[in-house]
Amino acid sequence: MTLSCRSVVACLLGFSSIAGAVLAQQGGATAQPSPPGGQQVTFNRDIAPILFHYCAPCHHSGEAGPFPLLTYADAKARARQIAAITSTRFMPPWLPEPQELRFADELRLSAEQIALIQKWVEQEAVEGAAADLPPAPQFVPGWQLGQPDKIIEVEKPYTLAAGGSDMYWNFVFRTPVDRTRWLKAIEIRPGEKRVVHHANILVDRSQSARRQESQPGTGFAGMELKIESETFDPDSHFLFWKPGTVPKPEPEGMSLRLDKDTDLILNIHLQPSGKPEKIQPSLGLYFTDKPATLFPMLLQLENDRQLDIPPGEKRFLVTDEFTLPVDVDLLAIYPHAHYLGKDLQALATLPDGSTKTLIHISQWDLNWQAVYRYAAPVSLPKGTTISMRYTYDNSSENPVNPNDPPRRVVSGNRSSDEMAHLWLQVLPHASADSAFDPRMLLQEAMARHNVGKNPADFEAHYNFAAILQARGVSAEAIQQFEFAVRLRPQDATANNALGAALLAAGRIDDAISHLTAALETQPDNFDAHYNLANALASEDKFLEAIEHYRAAIRLHPDDANTEANLGSALAETGKLSEAKQHFERALRIDPHHKLARENLEQIARDLKNPQE
Ligand code: HEC
Repeated sequence: MTLSCRSVVACLLGFSSIAGAVLAQQGGATAQPSPPGGQQVTFNRDIAPILFHYCAPCHHSGEAGPFPLLTYADAKARARQIAAITSTRFMPPWLPEPQELRFADELRLSAEQIALIQKWVEQEAVEGAAADLPPAPQFVPGWQLGQPDKIIEVEKPYTLAAGGSDMYWNFVFRTPVDRTRWLKAIEIRPGEKRVVHHANILVDRSQSARRQESQPGTGFAGMELKIESETFDPDSHFLFWKPGTVPKPEPEGMSLRLDKDTDLILNIHLQPSGKPEKIQPSLGLYFTDKPATLFPMLLQLENDRQLDIPPGEKRFLVTDEFTLPVDVDLLAIYPHAHYLGKDLQALATLPDGSTKTLIHISQWDLNWQAVYRYAAPVSLPKGTTISMRYTYDNSSENPVNPNDPPRRVVSGNRSSDEMAHLWLQVLPHASADSAFDPRMLLQEAMARHNVGKNPADFEAHYNFAAILQARGVSAEAIQQFEFAVRLRPQDATANNALGAALLAAGRIDDAISHLTAALETQPDNFDAHYNLANALASEDKFLEAIEHYRAAIRLHPDDANTEANLGSALAETGKLSEAKQHFERALRIDPHHKLARENLEQIARDLKNPQE
């Protein structure tokens, strides 16, 4: 889920002031009264409530659990196994240690509950009085949020081989909307749940990921993917599925924007089952007519560059730290490492020096990774430092080490590579002393942090520059684009962006040299032709400018600005009737194009009174 800005575009995001969001409190666990001392533990009175709440969501037919746990007979048949597996806390799968900040839907048995199960098995696992049995949970088959407004099916199913190692597959869903719509929920139906371990959706507004498909609709392999973005439009929601999750609508005010020509990429983690499985996921879209009024944002701490883990190393430490430039409410957290990850911790140090554990996983298990939502938003004031501290075990004692014997491991996208990522969903508060969208301040602080952390990282400089440019901090933006170009002198995108920034700052000759460099590497770069033409026109080099406007039009025949500017350049060289045609074309593309209309009127007057 890496985000990279790709060109310099002003931020035009709607924004309204943000009050602390109120998230619905999720239903907690049922309290288990422990039987008075010495009393017989029975299934109906003591054990069934535990299994119904903590196990049945996955252990019923059609779900991920390999057998149902809904009746006395189900439990009795596996009583010893249940006692063993709950005492090691392998089931129910719940990674975080207990902590002060509570998560919604915590699925962690208390020590008393575990002891009760042990005692039940020791006492021969009796059933008890029928009257004590609570009603079994009811599970609705099919869509959990009701009939979706729109269902999107994957075009071409993927067939998972019978054996071999884990597979990560990406399905590209073309969205079925012809205008911007708002969603109150997306329900993920991942396909055969026995083999799907987790799935998450990435929103691809520029349709960049589909280029990796061998044919449209086939999808493509890959554990992590990178979504490119042309505009300031930070990722905002975790769209995550894991076994046993009951989907929930997004909180009030936080509906999701879905534009025309957006792809939704479903990234799925699959584990072979012993026979070939056809995987055909679908998504249910639930529309709302309420646009978002609250704008959360995903922040990423990471330090993949620190990952260079020698074989045999048992406690390899990776850290990152980020200080919040604005007040935020922390809504959810998603730690991520691969198979060598062992102890994953995130901590907040508040401006008053106090600390809060945001999450602590002492036995990381990639297979049970999840997004954890807080039971109530966690308020973190400006100046709070968030730190991640991950340790990795690359010894042969790590039972899931992908290498036997252990090898040196560095960061990468394959499951045998490693990662050190921590994602946070935060809702920034508007600050009284700044007119800017607070997400932009967060994004800028994050980009500044990344440049400091990785000074040789082209993308860090480029993204930082793009944000500065969008914020109007022009001199510093130019400096950062220059760093980027120094790191990749041939890069057309960076040369074009630097050229555009220099042009906007009135440094025309420098602009021309970078825009020319962009076209040397990429002769069909529309932006560079357009910007270069504008630069040349501003130096009255109209004949050269006309060449580049024409080249730009060949690449994008539907761009009203290019048509209008070509018209102006032609008019400057006295070619009025040809100019007129291009102004008219501009107006056909965009009937409201002001420059084209004014120039056309001017030409009409000039043609009427040629002596003037
Ligand atoms: C989030 C879904 C989920 C929940 C909740 C869950 N299980 Fe499981 N359980 C699974 C899956 C999936 C497997 C298959 C093994 C695997 O993939 O690791 C499994 C396997 C098992 C096994 C067999 C393990 C083995 O080694 O073969 C037992 C026993 C079990 N679960 C008991 C429980 C009990 C008891 C609870 C509640 C206290 C529970 N599970 C809660 C998903 C779940």
